[in-house]
Amino acid sequence: MTRIAVLGSTNMDLVAYTARAPGRGETVTGREFRTVPGGKGANQAVAAAHAGGEVMMIGAIGDDVYGTRLREGLEHAGVDTDLLHTAEGPSGTAHIVVDDIGSNAIVVVPGANGVVTTLGPGEIAAIAASEILLMQLELPLSAVVEGARAARAQGVRTILTPAPVQPLPDELLDHIDLLVPNEHEAAELSGQDEPHAAAQILLRRVPEVIVTLGAKGCLYAARGGEPVLFEAPSVTAVDTTGAGDTFVGALAVALGEGRPVAGAVAFASAAAALCVQKPGASTSMPYRSEIEAEAV
Ligand code: RIB
Repeated sequence: MTRIAVLGSTNMDLVAYTARAPGRGETVTGREFRTVPGGKGANQAVAAAHAGGEVMMIGAIGDDVYGTRLREGLEHAGVDTDLLHTAEGPSGTAHIVVDDIGSNAIVVVPGANGVVTTLGPGEIAAIAASEILLMQLELPLSAVVEGARAARAQGVRTILTPAPVQPLPDELLDHIDLLVPNEHEAAELSGQDEPHAAAQILLRRVPEVIVTLGAKGCLYAARGGEPVLFEAPSVTAVDTTGAGDTFVGALAVALGEGRPVAGAVAFASAAAALCVQKPGASTSMPYRSEIEAEAV
């Protein structure tokens, strides 16, 4: 089993389903409302656990009812929450609008995630005991930098999802092995709209990049090699929330098992394709047997 530590956010997703998202100053009537456990970190943790990894979640929830439900959700998925601290105040929330073609728009309010500014000896030890560290950017950057540095010092492979996108300092990227932006994040970080061009710019800062392209698949690029475009399974999406997180969680499991990049990407793409066919983030993450059936 791949030992994976996830240093990241845990949010309650407050999701409104509507035919189309409102424009600025506009009110539209929605069809349905759901509260679904989410957060980019917790989503990656659940995805990795469902895909067959041994997963430890590092982060914080609030001392509210959402926090209780978020912890239970992670534990139900088999994620170790011993290092998921309970902070005073509200849990993180994500305010999400999903339209009829499955696209979403999200406002995240960090809540308890914002108190994770530094890591203690327990967190550092957990990272050191892992094979892979997954990170995103919904925790304060200081903690993410500390985690990446601790992982690198112990030879732990580091994978960063640069979302929500923001300028990335060298003190972070110097410790990242694989960067997994979507095409918008890749464009923002590189100044290049075209994914191949963006990947080439990003390779100046990290050794490997996977630019996820939604229904078009993903582009893998490594220093000194030819970039490879991988197609995604063709499916009808009802909700793309958490698809990128599912991809990364499953990818980490497959890479940790020693699969070559093509096989790991096929496994991860199958997981993401299954995720978009159901509503919600953590509620739509497939189990290993389902992924293996889809990936053949
Ligand atoms: O990546 C999807 C996630 O982003 C949602 O679950 C939401 O919580 C936001 O963090």
